[in-house]
Amino acid sequence: MTDTAALLTRRTLAGLAAAAAFAGTVRAQGKGTPLRVGLMLPYSGTFAQLGENITTAFELHLAERGGQLGGRPVTIIKLDDQSDPAAAPQNVNRLLARDKADVLVGTVHSGVVMALVQAAREKGVPLIIPNAGNVAAARELCSESVFRTSFSNWQPAYGMGLALAKTGVKKAAWITWDYAAGKESGEGFRDGLKAGGAELTQLLTLPFPETNFQPLLAQVPGLGVQAVGAFFAGGGAVQFVRDYAAAGLRDKFPLCGSGFLTEGTLAAQGAAAEGIRTALHYADGLDNPRNIAFRKAFREKAGRDADVYAVQGYDAAQLLAVGVDAVKGDMDADKQLFAAMRAARIDSPRGAFTLSAGHNPIQNIYLREAKSGENRMIGIAAEALADPGTGCKLT
Ligand code: PHB
Repeated sequence: MTDTAALLTRRTLAGLAAAAAFAGTVRAQGKGTPLRVGLMLPYSGTFAQLGENITTAFELHLAERGGQLGGRPVTIIKLDDQSDPAAAPQNVNRLLARDKADVLVGTVHSGVVMALVQAAREKGVPLIIPNAGNVAAARELCSESVFRTSFSNWQPAYGMGLALAKTGVKKAAWITWDYAAGKESGEGFRDGLKAGGAELTQLLTLPFPETNFQPLLAQVPGLGVQAVGAFFAGGGAVQFVRDYAAAGLRDKFPLCGSGFLTEGTLAAQGAAAEGIRTALHYADGLDNPRNIAFRKAFREKAGRDADVYAVQGYDAAQLLAVGVDAVKGDMDADKQLFAAMRAARIDSPRGAFTLSAGHNPIQNIYLREAKSGENRMIGIAAEALADPGTGCKLT
């Protein structure tokens, strides 16, 4: 059992009490009755920009469908979860009991998402995760009502480890925040390195969302490694990449990571990011018609360029549309709704993907290099990569 699963078991009693409070909730169903979609995302703090991009792209796809799904108009309810795990159960309760959400979409942070997963499992409310990569959601806590349009924390880091080992590196370290996403991406990096004949020798962490990296960076020269990998994102990633360069470590210990390290952050990172290699299920300049059209539409709507978070939000709306269209807006037909979503083939800007048994995308992990403000694809680190899905009983 992962740490997350154990935590969830401890919280079950509290969860059941909360579920009892939802029991009186009656969903409005009729044609013309708005479908209520609860977006629980960070709109403040280190991940604020991630939440904004997910939301903007989700709304973009809805607008492309005339604001309707399955013949019903859509009402969006937004809630700022502040990436705070402690407040998450109450926030989920608000969306369900107070706001009467029919569908939940969220979130970014791997700790916060567990409250959403718990509610979806207990109540059968459809949940689409547009970022948070907590592996348990696709493994032992997988559920017929829980879907993800992003990644598992293991996937991009596995691709990075494999690609790094192929360059001849034999020993590497992983630096990250001490929470599920950091730890699980470290496991992916370790497994990728191992598959390529190399070794993860150290895991260095600091608490989320702290950015005092100096004590960790001071240790790097003494680690005996040839390269360093990292998981950071948002504001924290901007700071880490700048500090790594300023510490003079780049030339001796090349920095790489899950692609979030340089995603949506390059303008703020400037020269410090130039040449950094990362692995992710998206890259700038992917030459497919869906991506070209999506980037143009996103830029027109938002006034800034799309990134992986925008792609994941767009695909969350696409996946929801597949389900709600299949049941013509009747959310009580949940078995059919879930079956349609499970079987979906999403025409994503990242390239088309389908879902594994744990409802997690099977997707290419691209190797990218930061150059002149773009994360350019320089190869495929892992093709059609699925999360191992260990412990998931769905088929
Ligand atoms: C996570 O907590 O799962 C997480 C957060 C930000 C990212 C990626 C993963 O960019």
